[in-house]
This record gives sequence, structure tokens and C-alpha cells, in this order.
Amino acid sequence: MDHFLYRDGNLHAEDVAIADIAAQVGAPFYVYSSATLTRHFRLFDEALDWADHLVCYAMKANSNQAVLKLLGDLGAGMDVVSGGEYMRAKAAGIPGERIVFSGVGKTRAEMRLALEGGIRQFNIESEPEMQALSEVASSMGVTVPVTIRVNPDVDAKTHEKIATGKSENKFGIPISRAKEVYAAAAALPGLEVIGIDVHIGSQLTQLEPFGQAFEKVAELTKLLRAEGHDIRRLDLGGGLGIPYERSNDAPPLPQEFGQLAQDKVGHLGCEIEIEPGRLIAGNAGLLVSEVIYVKEGADRQFMIIDAAMNDLIRPAMYGAYHDIVPVIEPAAGVEQVKYDIVGPICESGDTFAKQRMMPPVAAGDLVAFRSAGAYGAVMASEYNSRPLIPEVLVHEDQFAVIRERPTFDEMINRDTIPSWL
Ligand code: LLP
Repeated sequence: MDHFLYRDGNLHAEDVAIADIAAQVGAPFYVYSSATLTRHFRLFDEALDWADHLVCYAMKANSNQAVLKLLGDLGAGMDVVSGGEYMRAKAAGIPGERIVFSGVGKTRAEMRLALEGGIRQFNIESEPEMQALSEVASSMGVTVPVTIRVNPDVDAKTHEKIATGKSENKFGIPISRAKEVYAAAAALPGLEVIGIDVHIGSQLTQLEPFGQAFEKVAELTKLLRAEGHDIRRLDLGGGLGIPYERSNDAPPLPQEFGQLAQDKVGHLGCEIEIEPGRLIAGNAGLLVSEVIYVKEGADRQFMIIDAAMNDLIRPAMYGAYHDIVPVIEPAAGVEQVKYDIVGPICESGDTFAKQRMMPPVAAGDLVAFRSAGAYGAVMASEYNSRPLIPEVLVHEDQFAVIRERPTFDEMINRDTIPSWL
């Protein structure tokens, strides 16, 4: 559920008309709903009520500091995967004891940064990383809590580019080797092995793969405890999908995910962490864009808009579907027409939708991409020297620009021309 509804013929974000934001900010822009972010965080938080728990928002989905602050104020922790994300979380006021550090390629510099600033735990993904973290922590005279991410070799049944739990994926250690890797970790100075981490992929639309993974984690917990490890925290990852296509079956709800987790690992008495990103932020955001031209092709109509693949890369990168709707509510019964909806970038891949049925639009009209709050702005680039677009946060009847559109000069002046030229 989200808070983007038509009211008096105009698409609103909560109590603010999208057209009013566009008039002030200019298209294209991202807009997020505080109420939706809050609601989604709370759904997860409540779904884990049965355990001592922390919902660590996977901030890679949307790392604007205003979003982090909003979630942090609700009690969220953060799942970070880089030094930059760690610093951003800290800058947004998230305390180190609520930050977990994930990722296959943490550098020693990143480890040091987090150890200096405070960290809840590292989710270790390999033996060389374990060795490096042990050395860094020891050299600083500290001991850091760690979990080890296991790769349970289950099929997440999602897009191949965002599946992470099969043995051929680069993530985690093979679960079959967990016993020896845990023994090695326990022998290293500077590390305190406290738990198990698993994350099998993103945009999962079924519960079954989670169930398989959690069962394997439960078995492993028992095995490792029998080996003498004090396994007391389970990080069950993120990955619950959202309904991008309204006509499709809705994916499972956080409540069902929480119930499944309780069924599979509740009896172990562990503290529980989860790392949802997309479900918290995805349907809390729109990408709003203006139609520049409607052009007649040989056999089709192109809707050319002022947003492009550099602003929202998901359709080009994953063939992802985003619902695209007019900002002015179409009259009831209006006949729909077919468009190829494209951006201005000089590649055919800069296509958001092909042969999409929509109410007719004209140059100057605004359209909104739904479900663009996660993996939208964060994956944007300046390709074709298009400045990053602004982000706006709505709260009831107020809105604020939470990232300004840079000027051309701000974008251009980051380059320097060497003196010999
Ligand atoms: N935890 C870990 C270790 C992850 O790698 C991810 C996502 C998450 C949590 C959050 O997963 P979520 O709840 O958001 O599904 N750019 C892609 C998605 C990449 C996901 C990467 N990892 C997209 O636009 O679909």
C-alpha cells in the first residue's frame, strides 16, 4: 500500500499535489512519501514482535539522509555495504550500534572506518575477509562481533542479476563448509563469532525459498552450537518483493515473512535481524517526468520524456516493469493508446516501456513512474552529462527538497584540466 492517490483529478503524494511540486521543483524529480516509508518499516518491525529484533534497513535501496533519518527515528538500524554508506548512515544520526556491515569486498580502510565509528556487527563473507578483519581489529586493540554469511544454495526464483543464494553466486561461504570456517573464525583474535547471516536475493515473490534458507540456518545453528559456538543472533537478510505490476499476484506480506521466520527459527531463541530495502522504500517513491514530445514512428508512437535511463536504470538493466501513470487523472472511459516510452539518451536501451497502453498524453503533461523509491535515485548517473535529478520528501501537506538539482557548473566543475593542456 502507498500514499499516492488521485484526489480531485490530480495525483497526490499524501496531501500534496504532484503538479504543485513540479511547478516549484521542475521535472524530472523523485518524490517520496513519509507515511509510506513509516508504514512499511512498522510492518516489518511488528512482524518480528515475537523476538528481540532489529530491522536494519538496506540503505542501498534509497540512501538519502532524510530517508535514513526518518527511519532511524522510528528505531531502524542500517545495513551498509560500503564506507560511503557507513558515513552517510552516521551523518544521518544512526548510532554505530545499529549499523551492520555487509558486502563481499570490504576493504581494510572500510573496516577501520567502521571500527573507529562504532559498529553493531560485520557480516563476513569469506575466509580472507575474516583474516583481514581480525588483523585490523587486533591492530586497533578491539574485538568486533561478527556473523558469517552462508550461501545456502537455494533458488530464490528471481531475476538472475539479483539472485544471491545459489552456489554459483559470489556471496557468502558455502554452507557445506560452515563448520570449518566457523572454527577458524573462532580461533582468530579480534573477532567474536555471534551469529549467522543469510540473504538469498532480491524481489522474491514467494515465501518458499526463504523457508528453505531459514531451515538450513536453523540446522546450522544447532550444529554450530554443538561445536561450542555461542550462536545468539541470526541475520535473515532482505529480499521480500513488491508488486510492480498491479495486475499480478501480490507478493507475500511482511507479516507472512515474519511468521515464516518464527516458524523456522523462533525455537532457537536467537536475536533476529532482517535487512529489507525494496519493500520499505520501493512503493514509497515516484519518479515524475514531463512529456517532451509525442512522435509518430513508422509503426508506433514514441512518448519522449525528460527522464532517462540515467535517472532510473531498472528497465534498461533488468527489463523491469514500472507502472507509468498520468499525473492528471484521465477521464473515466477514455480510450487508451499504445506508446513506446523513451528518454532522450542516445541509446535504444533508453526505453522505459514498449507498446504500453496508456491514456493519451501531450507534450507538457506530467507522468509518474510508480514503485521508483528503491533502486531509483541511488542507481542514477550523469550519463550524457545529465545532472542528477532532485529528490523531494512529502509529509502530510508539506514537502521539502531533500536533494537539490545541481547546476551545470556544479556538475562540470568537478573535473579539472591538467596544467599541461
Ligand atoms: N541485504 C543484502 C546483503 C543485500 O545484498 C540486499 C540487496 C538487501 C539486503 C536488500 O534487498 P531488498 O530487500 O531490497 O530486496 N538494484 C536491484 C536490486 C539489488 C539488490 C541488491 N542487494 C534492483 O533494482 O532490482
